[in-house]
Amino acid sequence: MEEKGNNMQVRARETFTSGLGAIAATLGSAIGLGNIWKFPALTGENGGAAFLFIYLLCVAFIGLPVMLAEFIIGRRTHSNAIGAFKKLEGEKPWYVVGWMGVLASILILSFYTTVAGWVLAYVFKAVGGSLSGIDAAGAKQVFDQVVGHPVYPLLWQLTVFLVISLIIMAGVQKGIERITKTLLPVLFVLLVICDIRALTLPGAREGLNFLFNPNFAEITALTVLIAMGLAFFKLSIGMGTMLTYGSYMRDDDNLIATGGRVVIADTVVSIMAGMAVFPAVFAFGFEPASGPPLLFLTIPMVFNSMPLGQVFLSLFFILAFIATIGAMISMLEVPVAFLHEEKGLRRNTAVIVTAAVIASIGSLATLSGSVLSHILIWGKNFFDLFDFASSNILMPLGGLVIAVYVGWAMGKSRVAEELSNRGSLRQDKIVKAFYFVIRYITPIAITIILLNGLGIIGF
Ligand code: PHE
Repeated sequence: MEEKGNNMQVRARETFTSGLGAIAATLGSAIGLGNIWKFPALTGENGGAAFLFIYLLCVAFIGLPVMLAEFIIGRRTHSNAIGAFKKLEGEKPWYVVGWMGVLASILILSFYTTVAGWVLAYVFKAVGGSLSGIDAAGAKQVFDQVVGHPVYPLLWQLTVFLVISLIIMAGVQKGIERITKTLLPVLFVLLVICDIRALTLPGAREGLNFLFNPNFAEITALTVLIAMGLAFFKLSIGMGTMLTYGSYMRDDDNLIATGGRVVIADTVVSIMAGMAVFPAVFAFGFEPASGPPLLFLTIPMVFNSMPLGQVFLSLFFILAFIATIGAMISMLEVPVAFLHEEKGLRRNTAVIVTAAVIASIGSLATLSGSVLSHILIWGKNFFDLFDFASSNILMPLGGLVIAVYVGWAMGKSRVAEELSNRGSLRQDKIVKAFYFVIRYITPIAITIILLNGLGIIGF
């Protein structure tokens, strides 16, 4: 153990070049398909505003604290998820979090790359003009064709793997930072344009009502679990991603400020995506509960109803694809950093091994839309199973262990030292509040929501 620790210190480890770099890369991980695809889909399926409200509570009392807890562990050790716990606690089994994280990242990437593949397919459709002027029925038909074909979606998914593997081989700073820094603002502007058009559609009001006027009667224990799972998925927490990113942060980066900004920006982007999608749902007569297809049905319709629609639509899908790259890279980074630093594989070899394994498992998710659609496990196809197991079980469990570790085992002085950059930041009150939340509120809330949502206990 000791030896390994020394070994790791000898190998020079990259860090982000600046505080802004840390925020940009962290945001690059958080922002992705979760905002533009999953957030509208789940909000639509689970009744709208009431779901959004519960989601926001989960972000504040579970999401942000767990993110900070991961930053603390990561920066303290400058190690990957498994190595970090080994450095801090030796052979005590805390490092199982790291293993769960590796598993979660494999499961998420398996279906995430499927959806990223759909996005890529839509880039070509948008640029080629085959989405121009279609009506609601046409939009449905296009989506069904993209997803239901037995071969093309697999090829798109493989292309996605190729792209992210090449980028990650270029290294932490060069690969991740540069891309996210330059392109996130452009995506943001495009979302603003999309919002303006959607909000001026006839019937937009009904969509806003759906998104912001809550009806709590529809909320069940499962809905609450799904909202919590979305918070974990959205903020890339509970599986070691933010721990790994924390490990690249510098000793003078302000962890609380970074986490706070990332959480706020991420939430704003999700809500903006919702404000583009839901007015369109009602204006064009789609079902709010359409689920995964929702983004792919509504967005083409919104852009089609404005001048230069084809140009904007193409840009939207191109940027959406780029946004998903940051998220995918951060997921791939979990097993890659582990194989490289713990198992001594060369970095590029680690990337290739990981990508090959995940691409094989991921084909099951992709083929759930066609030839494997009849295979159900616990009533779910592979795509839904990977999604449910990662967001609603593995990540919350990982988050629980991380919260318990930082709240109860790490020791208050080490936690305070990390949050205050060894005393150089004066944030005593915030540190105190954080410590209370991570000790009591976060672990208790996760436990209750998890047990209740899975039907193990009933309130
Ligand atoms: N947060 C990313 C998104 O919203 C997904 C993600 C999950 C990334 C877990 C990394 C780890 O798209």
